[in-house]
Amino acid sequence: MAGVSQVSHVASAELAPWTEEQVQQHLAVGKLVEGIQHMSPKYLEGMRRILTVSADTEFVSAPAYLRAAQHAPALNNFGSAMSIIQDELAHAHIGYRLLGDLGMDMDELIYERPASSFKYPYAFDVPLNSWVELVCANALYDQAGFVLLSDVYQSSTFGPWKRALAKVDKEETFHLRHGRTWIRKLVKDPAGRAEVQAAVDWMFILTLEWFGLPDSMKKHSEQLDYGFKGKSNDELRQWWMSEVVPFMEEVGIQVPAHFANERDGYVIDCPFPAAFDEEKREWLLDDGSISWDDVLARWRARGPMNNDYVRTLQRGYQTTGLRRER
Ligand SMILES: [Fe+2]
Ligand SMILES: [Fe+2]
Repeated sequence: MAGVSQVSHVASAELAPWTEEQVQQHLAVGKLVEGIQHMSPKYLEGMRRILTVSADTEFVSAPAYLRAAQHAPALNNFGSAMSIIQDELAHAHIGYRLLGDLGMDMDELIYERPASSFKYPYAFDVPLNSWVELVCANALYDQAGFVLLSDVYQSSTFGPWKRALAKVDKEETFHLRHGRTWIRKLVKDPAGRAEVQAAVDWMFILTLEWFGLPDSMKKHSEQLDYGFKGKSNDELRQWWMSEVVPFMEEVGIQVPAHFANERDGYVIDCPFPAAFDEEKREWLLDDGSISWDDVLARWRARGPMNNDYVRTLQRGYQTTGLRRER
């Protein structure tokens, strides 16, 4: 996630007055960090990083869902999708507004940053081409968002974000229920079931990747040290599987993971991480597992929709004279 600090004009050290010790003492007595005045440079950098990933993820989900919403089977279904998209834009705004409070240039972050500098999960770079794929994304991707944000809500030491997430959590619950309700309906019909299965086949593993490097390889330990997050990547991946795998079993959709009693947790039943053919949207599972370095290289290169989505989000600013002279 290098590069986040490059988009800020004001260096964190000039803005964040506290030492590490002062932050730790403040947190040790159960107080929250209420603003930049309670931050050390390290806390500020870490909070900027996690907030940027969160805001970018919310932001890009809007054009990704909009693309698929064009295929809504009826006008009221299109309305539900629009309401989800509005929620996502509001979630993104919360994140960018807080980054503005943390000394970052919001216009640059949102409207002037190159597409390749956005920090959302690779999964959103793979296009959603149908209504079925949209509702499967609600069941899988919004569930991932819910897990990640619920964890931040419970453990974050940054008060303004923690409080804002009470609303976000409720809306993410609506999104994932939208996905589940639709999947339950679709699987009753053989053609619908086949379409759901085909979507889940590529989306499930992409969402597993979403939680990032295994704990044994994880960088950015300040996310846990400072209580930015409560659970580790592997714990969050397990939490997500504990929500998704039983649901998919209930509706008869196959996923490459199961609960293993002897491990008291979920086990992934396919090579992981694996190579992905992004044009065909297929996992090359016969080739066996690949290294996380290979996954990071794919993430860094971004995927097929990156430019398209960011251009959609920035177009109005770029074409209506709002762009600032520099
Ligand atoms: Fe969201
Ligand atoms: Fe959502």
